[in-house]
Amino acid sequence: MYFKWGRSRVHIFPLLSITAIVLVSNVLWSFSGYTFCHREPSLCACHKCLTDSDPWFNYIISEAPKPFMSQKHKPSEEDFNWWKNLQGARHQNLTFYNKTLERLFQTITPIADVGEPHPDHCRSCAVVGNSGNLRGSHYGPLIDFHNIVIRINRGHTKGYETDVGTKTTHRVMYPESATRLDNTTHLLFFPFKTHDFLWLLKALNPGENDAPNLKKIANKDLMMILHPAFMKYVHQVWLGRKGYYPSTGFLAVVLSLLMCDEVSVFGFGADSEGNWSHYFEILRNKKLKTGAHPGEEEYKIIEKLHKKKKIVFFKGW
Ligand SMILES: *[C@@H]1O[C@H](CO)[C@@H](O)[C@H](O)[C@H]1NC(C)=O
Ligand SMILES: *[C@@H]1O[C@H](CO)[C@@H](O)[C@H](O)[C@H]1NC(C)=O
Ligand SMILES: *[C@@H]1O[C@H](CO)[C@@H](O)[C@H](O)[C@H]1NC(C)=O
Ligand SMILES: *[C@@H]1O[C@H](CO)[C@@H](O)[C@H](O)[C@H]1NC(C)=O
Repeated sequence: MYFKWGRSRVHIFPLLSITAIVLVSNVLWSFSGYTFCHREPSLCACHKCLTDSDPWFNYIISEAPKPFMSQKHKPSEEDFNWWKNLQGARHQNLTFYNKTLERLFQTITPIADVGEPHPDHCRSCAVVGNSGNLRGSHYGPLIDFHNIVIRINRGHTKGYETDVGTKTTHRVMYPESATRLDNTTHLLFFPFKTHDFLWLLKALNPGENDAPNLKKIANKDLMMILHPAFMKYVHQVWLGRKGYYPSTGFLAVVLSLLMCDEVSVFGFGADSEGNWSHYFEILRNKKLKTGAHPGEEEYKIIEKLHKKKKIVFFKGW
């Protein structure tokens, strides 16, 4: 559906033999999967579970630190020193950071557990980016079919239901990209500076002096806070330190590999005209690309995960 053949009509024979090879190797591959299944009980109830044999994938996943912060899993001095440079706010100090985190943990108990695969259930996830390639895709029902739907920043659904669906179980945000969440949506908070925690404290507890209609940003019981060690891992191990730091979208994709048994990725990359636009707005700056983030490298890795059948990448239109 999302593969375009282009000018390939003339090359029927090579294509046929490639098809034959692909068929044979698929049969062999599923046979090896079959024997594997017989040796060990299935790890999850999905058609295929993420945790199965691929050396590159197993290695890169085994290097992952626990992705979420908790009272028991606080950032070390080393994590802090890497993280504090992300947005150029070098003057941030660890004493103040630690104090701020203490205040936060007194207010909320964030969810830190990513769960485990279980033979009785399938955690199928859709990670939905905001690319303009979702426009006209009709992916809505397909996206909503997943148990977990992770959306990013301001990627809203109202008015775009046919292409992006309606369900949002998790939303990735940082203060500059925040929108108010409903009571059943998990907030995946991605902090990039100490001030972001102060913002969160305020957004969860609007004070007496604030506008009376200021409502809480999200359900306090459904908070998850990304750990700086995880950001560092994605930057160093997945991206080989390219770019300043990973994009929010790419962090969400890697995170989903730890939270889910099966992952579909939507809304990443440029649109069909090669523009890096959002599905919900008209592109003003045609030169805009991916800023400080290594967009092309991230895109290549998403394609690699698709080729290795670790995720299914829906490229839109
Ligand atoms: C740490 O940062 C806080 C807030 O910016 C500031 O009030 C405090 O003086 C700083 N402390 C040190 C030792 O730099
Ligand atoms: C801050 O917290 C970390 C993790 O709990 C700890 O290792 C570090 O010593 C603390 N540093 C300061 C200056 O409070
Ligand atoms: C939101 O959910 C919490 C439990 O997680 C509950 O205590 C609260 O009453 C709910 N609020 C609304 C407005 O439904
Ligand atoms: C994409 O960029 C091209 C060339 O800059 C422009 O002509 C076109 O209108 C853009 N498409 C959208 C959907 O913004």
